[in-house]
Amino acid sequence: MAEELFVNTNGGKKGMYESLLPQLAALTGGEPDLVANLSNISAALKGVFGWWWVGFYWVKGGELVLGPFQGPVACTRIKFGRGVCGTAWEEARSLLVPDVGKFPGHIACSSLSVSEIVVPVFDSAGQVRGVLDVDSERYGVLDETDVVYLQKIAGLISQLLVEGS
Ligand code: SME
Repeated sequence: MAEELFVNTNGGKKGMYESLLPQLAALTGGEPDLVANLSNISAALKGVFGWWWVGFYWVKGGELVLGPFQGPVACTRIKFGRGVCGTAWEEARSLLVPDVGKFPGHIACSSLSVSEIVVPVFDSAGQVRGVLDVDSERYGVLDETDVVYLQKIAGLISQLLVEGS
């Protein structure tokens, strides 16, 4: 496929994700390189939704290590159970944080980020292999619809892991 995305903005956020998902599947399917795929997914999400920061932390040597992302420079390593990312890893579940100021232990990579979603990426054994992190500089932008669709995107990545990347 051409490396260009076409997203229908008429259907609201849900419609945007619905048109984006098959394109992400086509863009990453058959490509075995994980970094290439996570890079393109980060760029696609940043391009479509314009969030402040979007990207991945990957489990390496017992820590989360910064992976492909789009946005300002970020913290490089996050420990198990620390911050929103480390908590999502520890609890193996998605976290929607509408106000990071109210999340105990939030790691402020950027003081401009005020709300956040972190979604784990699982392997076929159910282990968390990494997390997808989305940060917004605005309140009320990130919601349950984002969680649902970001989980679908994480599922796409899980499938890529099965296929060997
Ligand atoms: N705020 C995150 C750290 C990662 S950055 O925002 C890119 C956290 O508390 O886990």
